[in-house]
This record gives sequence, structure tokens and C-alpha cells, in this order.
Amino acid sequence: MPDVKFYSGDKVPLEMHKAKIVQKIELIPIEQRLKAVQEAGNNTFLLKNRDVFIDALTDSGVNAMSDQQLAAMMIADDSYAGSETFYRLESKCQELFHKKYFIPAHQGRACENILAQLYVNEGQIVPMNYHFTTTKAHIVLNGGSVEELFIDEALRVQSDYPFKGNMDIDKLRALIQEKGADKIAFVRIETGTNLIGGQPHTLENVKKVREVCDEYGLMLVMDTSLLADNLHFIKTREKACQDMSIREITKEISDQCDIMYFSARKLGCARGGGFVTDREDVYLKIRELIPLMEGFLTYGGMSVREMEAITVGLEETMDENMINQGPQFIEYMVDELTQRNIPVVTPAGGLGCHVDAMSFLEHVPQTEYPAGALASAMYLVSGVRGMERGTISEQRQENGDETLAHLELLRLALPRRVFTMSHIKYTVDRLEWLWENRKLVGGLVFEEEPSILRFFFGKLVPTTDWHTKLVQQFKKDMGDSL
Ligand code: F0G
Repeated sequence: MPDVKFYSGDKVPLEMHKAKIVQKIELIPIEQRLKAVQEAGNNTFLLKNRDVFIDALTDSGVNAMSDQQLAAMMIADDSYAGSETFYRLESKCQELFHKKYFIPAHQGRACENILAQLYVNEGQIVPMNYHFTTTKAHIVLNGGSVEELFIDEALRVQSDYPFKGNMDIDKLRALIQEKGADKIAFVRIETGTNLIGGQPHTLENVKKVREVCDEYGLMLVMDTSLLADNLHFIKTREKACQDMSIREITKEISDQCDIMYFSARKLGCARGGGFVTDREDVYLKIRELIPLMEGFLTYGGMSVREMEAITVGLEETMDENMINQGPQFIEYMVDELTQRNIPVVTPAGGLGCHVDAMSFLEHVPQTEYPAGALASAMYLVSGVRGMERGTISEQRQENGDETLAHLELLRLALPRRVFTMSHIKYTVDRLEWLWENRKLVGGLVFEEEPSILRFFFGKLVPTTDWHTKLVQQFKKDMGDSL
């Protein structure tokens, strides 16, 4: 079993690091938060960070770096072409993934853009365990479509199934038989499946998907942005892998894939991204687009400092006592909320704690965006900035109808090594207050609605004066200063 350390029988996880540099944060009073959230159009993406107390928007590009990463950044080799820094990163990728080629790109969605341009033709389908927002947008932009082949358990919010990110192998086979292999651009697995609550897949499932890909001559592409969390879950939950090291599990997963791409804003606790592959044909095709869209082939749009941080961050990902930090603190938070009957996605996943807004605000219809409303209300009563992961994050259909999301989630991301136990306890307390006063929270309606990726820039207003009522109640219970 992994060497997991807890403080006491209450299973309070221990931080296996200490702070050496800190950033001061401010908790502005609720009246100011009200003004801030109104100006942001109830869209937490549009809040200014100076108005945020605990920034749980995402774990992307905001994980704390280690002293070793910072030290490595100081010895980066500045060069447009042929930098030593590139060769260090390339060789770390070769070592960990056992693949010959590493191709840099400036972040995860840049990889998605390139993959979609190269491999998705008009009318083709990309089967996957679940979509991610930017992934789907690039596939659709290139004339393709997405088929989500998740298992039934994936959308069951409260479940004890440990691997909700698995792909349904029968559905995959049936889809290929029905449409024909030539209609399939490639098969995509997203490790640590983001939009269903950071839920993992097994190593066994990846192997089975590989078998189907082999049967039909299809490429298997893996989005490994959330690999660190998934590795931890395979190690702790998949019995057959208990005696394997993180390094061995990484290699076995990689062995199944034709292409792996990642956002290093998540994987490796740095910034940037890239692809790894063993296939020369793939390498040569991607290589053509990199200097055109990203930068020269030895930096791909990243700074050399970022690249040094990725090299060290990838190595640190092989340490179970590093990658367990996110999942353990998330599990603690999920357990605390569950004990208070607050509906959250279970089992606890990676990335963050996901509150089930559909049950939390069961009186708010899905067309009034319960997850968006909960994100707005949570910021208002706590200064904690979460992210809507529900219908606002979907795109309208061609006829203008809403695409109602499978799940309405308020994601409270826990960037790794950034927040402490008291921050988590504070967030739990505020959520509990909101839960007790949930009937005061109403819906939202769009005031400004962009046509693509509307969740980034869209502005919404409350359907009633529920903000005022919530603020009044809060002040009554907590006073003016909080
Ligand atoms: N794939 C997955 C699974 C992701 O979670 C993300 C980003 C990307 C691709 C895109 O990578 O941001 O480097 O361009 N997820 C972030 C999030 C934005 O907040 O969950 P990127």
C-alpha cells in the first residue's frame, strides 16, 4: 500500500510540504463582494482576483511550485533553437513515458487545436469517455463531432463506484460497427475525467480500449492533463496495481497510447504543454504545424523557465507523497460536506470538490443555470471563487435551444500545495451556511451571451432580487464585516 500519512484517527491529511514564500490574500466585506459579483455579470471568470479570498476557480497554472522547480528555472538555457532546456525535458518525457518523441506546445488546448486540424475530417466522430470544453470546441470547429461513451455510473452523482471515468467498451465497439472505422478520427481517453468531477479510469480499462483500437486499426489518444490524480487513484483503488510503482503504472498507461498530450498547467505543476508519441508518422505531421502556430520545435511557445519547471514537476509526479496531496484534501472536504448532508460528487475525485448544484438548488430550473447561480451565491457569502460546470459551460444547439448539461456542478478546485486545512474548513462552513439558506438563492438569465465558449465571457443577471435577500440574511447571521 502507498505510504499515506494522516494526523489522527479522524483521517485529517497531513501537508507533506512547508510554505517558504506566501502571498497575502484579502477577505473583502460582503457589500463589496456584492458589487464585484454584479460587475462580473455573475460569472466567476470575470471577477478580479483582488476581490477573491480563496481562488478555487481552477488548478490550472496556479499549483504551487517546489523549491526544486524554482531552482531549475534559474538554470534555463535561453535559446530560440536547440536549447539544453528542451533536451532535458525531452529526455524526462522519454524516461517516464517510454516514447521517442516529445513535441512542445504552449498549452493543452494548443495540442487539441493541432490534433483536430490534423486528424478530424468533416463528418468524423471522436469517441471519448467524456468531453472537455476546449477539446469539443476544436473537434466541432473542424467539422467533427464527439460521442461520449461513459459508463452508466459516470453520471450518478452520489456513488461508491471508484472508476467513473472508465469508457464503456461495448458502446465503443457498437459505435465503430455502426458508423464504420473510417468515420472514427481517433479514440480519446481523458484521464482524471474533468467535467464529471475529476473521476479516474482503471489501467485495465485503457488496455481494453487499446484492444478495440487494435481490432479496428484506430489511434488511441490520451489527454493526460489530469494524469497525476488518476495515477494516485489507480495506485490506491485498483487492486491489480497495488504493488506497482507510480513509474510502472505511468509506463503501462503510456504503452497503450499512440499519442498523449497534456496541459502542463496541471500535469507537472508548471505551465505549457505538449505531446508524446512513439510514431514517426504522427511526429512528422505535428512537427509541421508547431513552428507555424506555437513556436520553434525546441520551445513550442513556452518559456525555457517553464520548460525546466515541467521537467522537475514530471519527476515529482512520480512521488506518491506528492500526487496524493490534492486527492486527500479533496476527500477530506467531500467527507465533511457529506456528513452535513450537502450533496457533492462521490466518490471524491481529483482536481477539486464538486458540489451537486442540481440537488443543492432543486427549486432552480436547469434553464436558469443552478450551477452558475450557486457559484455566484458562494462567492457572495464567502469570497471563495468556484467555477460553474453545467449548462452555461455547454454551447447552444444550432436552432438556439439550450444543451442541458448532464450534471450541474459547482467546482471548487484545490490547486496543489496552495491552500491549508483552515481554508478548507472555512469553505465547508460557508457552504453549510449557504445550504441552510439555499431557498434564498434563485436563478440567472443571460444579459450578454457570446456564441462560442460563452462561459468565459458571458454576463448574467439574477432572475429576481435574490442577491439582496441573501446579503440581508448573511449580515443578520454574521455581521457586516465578513
Ligand atoms: N484537457 C483537460 C482535461 C483540461 O482539464 C484542460 C484544462 C485542457 C485540456 C486544456 O488545457 O488550459 O492548458 O489549454 N482545464 C482547465 C480547467 C482550464 O480549469 O479545468 P489548457
